[in-house]
Parts: sequence; C-alpha cells; structure tokens
Amino acid sequence: MDMDKKTVHGEWSSRFAFILAATGSAVGLGNIWKFPYITGENGGGAFVLVYLISVLVIGIPLMMAESMLGRRARQSPIGAMRLLTKEANADESWHYLGWMGVLAGMLILSYYSVIAGWSMAYVFKAFFGSFSGAEARDIKELFDNFTGSPLTLIFWHTLFMSITMWLVAQGIQNGLEKAVRVLMPGLFVLLMLLVGYAMTTGAYEQGLSFLFKPDFSKITGDAILIAMGHAFFTLSLGMGAIMVYGAYLPKNVSIARTSLLVVAADTVVALLAGIAIFPIVFANHLEPSSGPGLIFQTLPIAFGNMTGGWFAGVLFFVMLVFAALTSAISLIEPAVAWLIESRTMDRKVACIWTGLSVWVLGLGSVFSFNIWSNVKVFDKTFFQLLDYLTANLMLPIGGFCIAIFAGWVMVQKDAEAELALANPLYYQIWLILVRYVAHAGIFLVFLHVVGVL
Ligand code: PHE
Repeated sequence: MDMDKKTVHGEWSSRFAFILAATGSAVGLGNIWKFPYITGENGGGAFVLVYLISVLVIGIPLMMAESMLGRRARQSPIGAMRLLTKEANADESWHYLGWMGVLAGMLILSYYSVIAGWSMAYVFKAFFGSFSGAEARDIKELFDNFTGSPLTLIFWHTLFMSITMWLVAQGIQNGLEKAVRVLMPGLFVLLMLLVGYAMTTGAYEQGLSFLFKPDFSKITGDAILIAMGHAFFTLSLGMGAIMVYGAYLPKNVSIARTSLLVVAADTVVALLAGIAIFPIVFANHLEPSSGPGLIFQTLPIAFGNMTGGWFAGVLFFVMLVFAALTSAISLIEPAVAWLIESRTMDRKVACIWTGLSVWVLGLGSVFSFNIWSNVKVFDKTFFQLLDYLTANLMLPIGGFCIAIFAGWVMVQKDAEAELALANPLYYQIWLILVRYVAHAGIFLVFLHVVGVL
C-alpha cells in the first residue's frame, strides 16, 4: 500500500507546529464564549461533568482517529474519505461524510464570525475606556445597544471574514504557527489574571460550586446532548478540521501524545474561563442563563474595576480575536482544500467563493440579535437553530460516522500502523473506545433526545 502520499498544501515544520495549529483550532470562542454561557443556561455542575466525561471517552479517541485518518490520506476530508474507502474496499458513499464536514464548517463559521466580530468591537470599546468604572447595568446597556444595531454587527462580521479569508488565501503555514505560539501562553496568563480578580469579588466560592457541584435535578436530555455536542465543538471534532490538519502532519509524530496535549490545553482554557466568569456573574447579581452575551456582560465589569484593567481588557479581547481567527481558519480550510483539489481552483479564488457564501449566511445570525429576534422556528432564532443543527446534530453524527469508519471499516493493520502507539495494549484501548464507547455514548444521547430512553 502506498505509504508515501504527499499533500499538495505543504506540511507542518514539526510536531510542535501541529500541536500549535490543532490547539489553535480547538481553543477559540467555544472555550471562552460558548462554554460559560451554555453552562449557565444548563444549570452548572452536572452539565460540566457530562461535558468532561464526553471529552474523556469520546473526545480523546476521536481526536486520535481524525488525525490518523487525515495523515493517512493527506487530503481534504472529502478526498480523504474517497481514498480511504477505496483502500478499505468499502462502500463509496462514505465520502458523503467529508461533504457533511465541509458543510458543517461553513455553517459554523457563518455565526462564529459574527461573534468574533463582537470580540473585535470590544477591543475598541476596551481601548476607548468604555468599561472604566462601569457597573453591571451600564455594561449590559452597552451590549444591548451594540447588538441592537444590524449595521454595526455587519461591519464587524465583514471585517472578521475578510481577515480570515485573507489568511487562508496565504496558505497553511505562513503566520499561523507564530500566532498560536504567542497566543496560547498569553491567553493563559490573562485568564489567570481574571481568575485572580474573580477571587476578590466575594462570590468566588459560589461561582466554583456552581461550576463543579453537580445537581442532577437540573439536567435534561437536551442538556446532555448540548454538553456532548459541545465536546465536539470545542475540540473541533466531527467535521474534518482536525483531519485536514492531520493531513499536514509529518509521519514520525506520535498521534496519541499530541492529541492528549491538545485536549488538555483546550479543557484547561474552558475551565479557567468558567472559573473567571461565574463569580463575576454572582457578585453582580447577573443571570447565569443570560445567553450568548454572557462574557460580554461580565468580563468588562472586571476590566472596568480592577487595577490594570484597561490594559488587561484590550489585551484580552485582542487575544480572543486571535483565538477565534485560528479556529475560523480551520473551519473553512476543509472547504477550500477541497475546491483546490477537485476543481483545481486557485487557492485565492477558492477563498473568495467560500468566504462570500459564509458571509451571506452570517447575515442571518446578525439579524437574529436585532430585527429578526422574534422570528423563531421551533422556538429558536436563526442563530440558535444553526448552532443547534451544527454543534448538537452535525458534529456528533459526523463523529459517530468517523468512529465507525476508523474502528470498523478501515483496514485495522493500517490504522494500527498509522497510530504507531508505543504499546499494543494502548491500541486495544483506543479500539475499544472508538468501536464501542464512543458509539454507545453518542447513540444513547440521541435515543434520549428523541424520547426513546
Ligand atoms: N473548536 C473551536 C472553538 O472552540 C470551534 C471549531 C469547531 C473549530 C469545529 C473547528 C471546527 O472555538
């Protein structure tokens, strides 16, 4: 079998570069914006526990599976699935899995870009001192006025999409590695600083117990699905982002070790964000369940009232934008890589087409926060519907299929060789996890949601 497939898009310079890129993809708005707000909406501790368990038993093995499939095929997810299916003599229709991933990435990016746009706007609000000395009420008013204006949101959404597409047009290695190298330690330090502030609010313990004391009476079937879906979202799994990065991974790198590192970094950032935010929520009598605006209504209070808050605020939102950018790139790369491979399109042209489609779709999310806020289908706005469809349905279903493929369909010798685990026992554990545990988990949650369980 051909073990020397080459990627047409370039290769990471080292193992460390892949870790940086995969961490850049994983750590993003999902950790700092989404994790706290969905935790708040779903009652705290029990939700966090389900999320952590999902990360452990589904997230880690699937992260390994996706990197492995990508590295073996060295192509975009659609091309990869085609090739691997052929190798395994399996049914052709597996490549639709690649399609679903490409689509999921574009759908997610359409609203991701809108929220990243908010973060960009908040860099300037922080810079011009809008938070200085402000109280919770002022900060909420600021946020409501801001999201109430469709034109303002379109402006920031456009800016973020343009930067993303420009970066993707440059190709895979340029800049990305360097950005993440500074970004990760920087984010970490700032989050620690915010945790320090949270300790002074007088509600630190209340915040911690909200996050870590499970109250199972608060958890519903839907909450379990959201927690599991978030494990996929936050780790960039189920749609081919990690697969496409795996395609650029040099041969001699340990997939298990890199996957563990990426998952650990991602989880630590999310938990730190939660630890920083909830004490501020409780100390200011805010609602933990106030939705997507949660970080924009809480963190500015910290920046407005702590020493060095001006500087920390500007820096924090700058870092958040960068974290969003390194994730956005991986959301769109599967689509772009596929256009280049199969339509032999120029990278720049591919970027323009995908970027434009995503931008148009993003308008729907922009309007969900103002002129369409009352337009609801299944009791959800356009933004909520897209989020639900992608994070809670498409990613888990995609992950489910990827697990079936890696665990059952693929030639097992190939999988074992590609993973190259130090000990055969580790391979057995991985196989059990992708073959049974990940499936059973995803399947049970779906049964629960449709009311069978
Ligand atoms: N993992 C990213 C985040 O947490 C979002 C993302 C999802 C990126 C799926 C790529 C693929 O922000």
